[in-house]
Amino acid sequence: MQRCVFFGLVFFLASLSTMYTVSLASDLEVDFYRSTCPAAEHIIRRVVNEAIFENPGLGAGLIRMHFHDCFVRGCDASVLLDSTPGNPAEKEHPANNPSLRGYEVIDNAKLELEYECPQTVSCADIIAFAARDSASRLGGIDYAVPAGRRDGLISLKDDLNQNIPTFFFNLQQLRQNFTNKGLSLEEMVTLSGAHSIGVSHCSSFSSRLYSFNNVTNQQDPSLDLTFADDLKPECPNEFGPDSPGPTVNLDYVTPYKLDNMYYKNLLDRRVLLTSDQALMTSRTTVNMVRRFSKNRAAWKRKFAEAMVRMGSIEVLTGDEGEIRRNCRVVNSYY
Ligand code: HEM
Ligand SMILES: *[C@@H]1O[C@H](CO)[C@@H](O)[C@H](O)[C@H]1NC(C)=O
Ligand SMILES: *[C@@H]1O[C@H](CO)[C@@H](O)[C@H](O)[C@H]1NC(C)=O
Repeated sequence: MQRCVFFGLVFFLASLSTMYTVSLASDLEVDFYRSTCPAAEHIIRRVVNEAIFENPGLGAGLIRMHFHDCFVRGCDASVLLDSTPGNPAEKEHPANNPSLRGYEVIDNAKLELEYECPQTVSCADIIAFAARDSASRLGGIDYAVPAGRRDGLISLKDDLNQNIPTFFFNLQQLRQNFTNKGLSLEEMVTLSGAHSIGVSHCSSFSSRLYSFNNVTNQQDPSLDLTFADDLKPECPNEFGPDSPGPTVNLDYVTPYKLDNMYYKNLLDRRVLLTSDQALMTSRTTVNMVRRFSKNRAAWKRKFAEAMVRMGSIEVLTGDEGEIRRNCRVVNSYY
């Protein structure tokens, strides 16, 4: 009877979420903390689930945090370091400030982990697990996370200029930026599906409504007209980096569900960012968008694979870097 209930439960859970196993060549290892901190992944998942229960937007923030961490100096938690006098950190760059969120969720997980197994679980791994747990909770996308990342010692605001693509880039530029990190065009299109959750500040797209190509009162012709009319009251004028304005859901249909709706919105020309719409400017990428818009299961599987690949960019392993005690400061600070 107990077995029956057990298998029933497993089946029930399996029907809600899909577990993917991804193999890759890197120094990272699935179940890395099995002997040194067996509760690590459970603790992180519980903290993330509690945070998302309070505010689902934090799940979006954590997935984006993994992207912004991995693209700058590799997945080494450099994104979490606070500025020190005379040295503004990654956090201060306009691509992160004020929009990047979820720092406190990582802090909460780290606090519990330091109590459970001091100086064992890296902040970089916590981000990778937290991003996976967010994808699991918001999208039923589950996958094993290879771990063993170590934490970096350096965080520089200006590093983002050369590494994080911006919202006004065209397809060539975006493609180049992902190629620079060893990610393919298809992986780029796949990962962009993360824009089916979370929000954007008006400043990241309001020029499409009010000053396309720097022409006053010109609207981006690649934006659906009705959609543009709906956006204008939400972003009543053009906003810039100094006043980012209010936020708007990236996916206007299912804003809290990590699903393939992003690709349907793209086909309808109802996405916020110029960099989103850029995926519709080549036949190759349009075909990928069509395919993902029709096949949610295929997109979910590819998303899991691409997250694992992104999570292995330029990682520190072995005795490189350190295991931070506090994710916001390097250990030598004490
Ligand atoms: C292809 C290049 C990309 C560009 C140019 C880009 C740009 C942006 C911008 C401008 C925002 C809104 C920021 C704001 O104004 O508040 C945003 C939000 C977001 N991005 Fe991206 N992004 C890209 C790729 C990715 C990738 C690869 C992921 C993760 C796999 C991702 C996940 C997210 C998420 C989840 C949000 C919502 C965050 C929140 O609600 O806190 N993006 N992105
Ligand atoms: C992205 O690629 C473009 C085109 O090669 C390049 O000019 C730009 O500096 C790159 N930016 C980032 C942030 O990688
Ligand atoms: C718009 O004008 C600003 C300021 O003059 C300039 O920096 C920017 O490159 C221009 N953008 C385009 C798309 O022409």
